[in-house]
Amino acid sequence: MQSRRVAVITGGTKGIGKAIACRLAQDGCDVVLNYHADDETAQSALRDFDGLPVKAVAVKADVSVSAGASHLIETAVSQLGSLDVLVNNVGPFLTRALYDTTDDEWQRTLDSNLGSVFYCSRAALRVMREQRVGSIINIGALNVEHSPIGVFEAPAYYIAKSGVIMLTRSLARSEAPWGIRVNAVNPGFIETETYGGYRAQDKAAWARMIPLGRLGTPDDVAEAVSYLVSEKARYVTGAVLHVHGGLWV
Ligand SMILES: NC(=O)c1ccc[n+]([C@@H]2O[C@H](COP(=O)([O-])OP(=O)(O)OC[C@H]3O[C@@H](n4cnc5c(N)ncnc54)[C@H](O)[C@@H]3O)[C@@H](O)[C@H]2O)c1
Repeated sequence: MQSRRVAVITGGTKGIGKAIACRLAQDGCDVVLNYHADDETAQSALRDFDGLPVKAVAVKADVSVSAGASHLIETAVSQLGSLDVLVNNVGPFLTRALYDTTDDEWQRTLDSNLGSVFYCSRAALRVMREQRVGSIINIGALNVEHSPIGVFEAPAYYIAKSGVIMLTRSLARSEAPWGIRVNAVNPGFIETETYGGYRAQDKAAWARMIPLGRLGTPDDVAEAVSYLVSEKARYVTGAVLHVHGGLWV
């Protein structure tokens, strides 16, 4: 990877997003860590970049609304000078049967999982098209696009994530003439705070279901992102890279 590229990571102050930000910083990118609520976590995340020869800034913005996404991208460009990589990582889980899902939960889940990817990508493309270069990575979930059956555990979430895959492929086609690549990474069960509340025996049962025998780590996902945004993946666009230890292949 070239040095001093600028990477924006939505939801980049903890979990998978923070691991991606750290990996891209190790690859030589200046990084913009987006968050929307917790200032303390953002400040503590920034300390992880002390000592690295890159710039790291945190930008507070709610990317589930268009104005928040525009604010994030404009601030990133004004503070760090360009925008080369966008990782659309925000994607909160909602465990609720469709029958019990309220209008507000439905809208919030679609806005934060799918709307954020559209709003941030559109804002970033205004910059990337000018530069005629750029790379966008969208974080999906499990095998949403291949599943022949519906889901009952978190349907609004998976419906939104399915949209993320179609959005990825659509942008890959439309932006290729501008030199912009768009890919997705679909994580399986990854040990973040999302799973922190589960009992050890539940995690052990999941690990037995996974052909590679363990839950994934945020770093496993970050490695895939690092590859896709690198020069090594220069001819890769519209791809969906599964990082799930062989689950459901
Ligand atoms: N953890 C897993 O096992 C797993 C599995 C499959 C997919 N994923 C996907 O990976 C991504 C990251 O997951 P995670 O477990 O690290 O999540 P997380 O909840 O630990 O972190 C997400 C971050 O995004 C921030 N955020 C949420 N809404 C926001 C908004 N509107 N604007 C700005 N920031 C916002 C949160 O505050 C948080 O800091 C998500 O898209 C998730 O759906 C995770």
